Amino acid sequence: MTHLDPTAHHDSSLPSTTESGAPRESDAHSLSVGADGPLLLHDVALVEKLARFDRERIPERSPHAKGSGAFGELEITEDLSQYTKAGLFQKGAKTPMLARFSTVAGELGSPDTWRDVRGFALKFYTGEGNFDIVGNNTPIFFLRDPMKFPDFIHSQKRLPDSGLRDNTMQWDFWTLSPESAHQVTYLMGDRGLPKSWRHMNGYSSHTYLWVNEAGEKFWVKYHFLTEQGLEFLTNEEAGELAGSDADYHRRDLFDAIAGGEFPSWRVEVQLMPYDEAKDYRFNPFDLTKTWSKKDYPRIPLGRFTLNQNPTNHYAQIEQAAFSPSNTVPGTGVSPDKMLLGRVFSYPDAQRNRLGTNFNQLPVNRPLVETNSYDKEGAMEFLHSGDAPVYAPNSFGRAYQEAQGPVDNGWEADGALVRSAYSLHAEDDDFGQAHTLIREVMDEAERGRLVETVSGALSTVQEPVLSNAFQYWKNIDQEVGAAIEAAVKAGLEEQVPGADPVDE
Ligand code: HEM
Repeated sequence: MTHLDPTAHHDSSLPSTTESGAPRESDAHSLSVGADGPLLLHDVALVEKLARFDRERIPERSPHAKGSGAFGELEITEDLSQYTKAGLFQKGAKTPMLARFSTVAGELGSPDTWRDVRGFALKFYTGEGNFDIVGNNTPIFFLRDPMKFPDFIHSQKRLPDSGLRDNTMQWDFWTLSPESAHQVTYLMGDRGLPKSWRHMNGYSSHTYLWVNEAGEKFWVKYHFLTEQGLEFLTNEEAGELAGSDADYHRRDLFDAIAGGEFPSWRVEVQLMPYDEAKDYRFNPFDLTKTWSKKDYPRIPLGRFTLNQNPTNHYAQIEQAAFSPSNTVPGTGVSPDKMLLGRVFSYPDAQRNRLGTNFNQLPVNRPLVETNSYDKEGAMEFLHSGDAPVYAPNSFGRAYQEAQGPVDNGWEADGALVRSAYSLHAEDDDFGQAHTLIREVMDEAERGRLVETVSGALSTVQEPVLSNAFQYWKNIDQEVGAAIEAAVKAGLEEQVPGADPVDE
């Protein structure tokens, strides 16, 4: 397969050439007028080499810049055909795939072990086109409206003047956006520091749509459960690794696969009958909420294994383009506003980052033939020859004229508004974060949460600091009070003269 064998056209025994294929006279010496003389513009080999070097970097991903990944295979072991007709999800189906894991806020060279949410992006090369699930290692997110996403990322990246990262800015955004509480609680807990990418779960986070052969619809959430076991780093370990091996997670995945230790994840789904969405106690399309497993248990579907490293990180990982807009028949998006914003944003970012024809790159190219009337733009090399360039046409090139309701759609009506979600019975910003602290975390993890948050708040300025104490008390009174006490004790220690060393 071209995706997995991109070096097939490279013959290392060939003498080196210019890019147009002529033999190079030297890879080491430029052409000069006499041994110590000036260089010459017509030294094509030197000019080409410097010009290409000058253009090696492309923009890094706007968020999720630092990451890596591997190829593998999805295998479906259970029959869920009553819920979806998608070919890749039929029992026995095996689908080649690519996974990329990442941090969100750091830049291309940033340490893998900074506390952050981890990206969990999957691309399946199916017989019906590419299907991508671009999720995270947490089942929820900080926001529920895409309008806020750029502000959120700005607050997590760097200050405009010093170019430094800044806790005050991060906590200012979070505390003024209380819908972030659930995700922030996850992030400040153990899951904010996975031991490796192999030791974390992945989630679609969003609700998606499934459609079966009869046209019946179901809402679905995907869960990818690590078969290596959930493991975490302590703050101390992560801090030490950030200095000693910034690429710790990238190295771990590559070395494991190179050594024949292939990581795998069980694939499970939560399914909600289409009509139950309206009256569920939480808004099922609100990305800051999970569906309770008591209400909608996880159902096994299959597993995937990563068994092949990239042979060229740049071509196969840096140039990979994942997008929630890549759906296949039997699957679709849902009315989750965040998801609908993302469906626009990813291909748009990729046209900018990789160029208009990014889908023609081997790593992004579907296995199936395409027949699109979109054409040309920089670097088009797959083309439709002399076939008609417009639809409809009378000269035999296929085109679609579908009308009426779409197979993977849903109903919506109402006035145009800019509003928060209408509340379902138990919708609020803090309830599920409280449940996470009280029902999922044990006493020891709660202790680590208080330590982590109070550490992060130690450099936060007023009025953000007081807002942060209130934010945590809204989530959990006891944990909030403990955070406030720990931060205040730390601040008192910093008062000049109070330090025993000074006495
Ligand atoms: C409205 C909200 C969001 C917007 C506008 C947005 C936008 C983006 C953009 C522009 C990129 C870079 C894409 C590229 O250059 O290839 C990206 C990467 C990514 N985003 Fe989002 N994002 C949003 C929310 C989310 C959410 C909710 C998740 C997870 C559930 C997520 C997971 C990821 C991942 C995993 C990547 C890296 C993909 C890869 O490995 O190439 N994002 N996002």
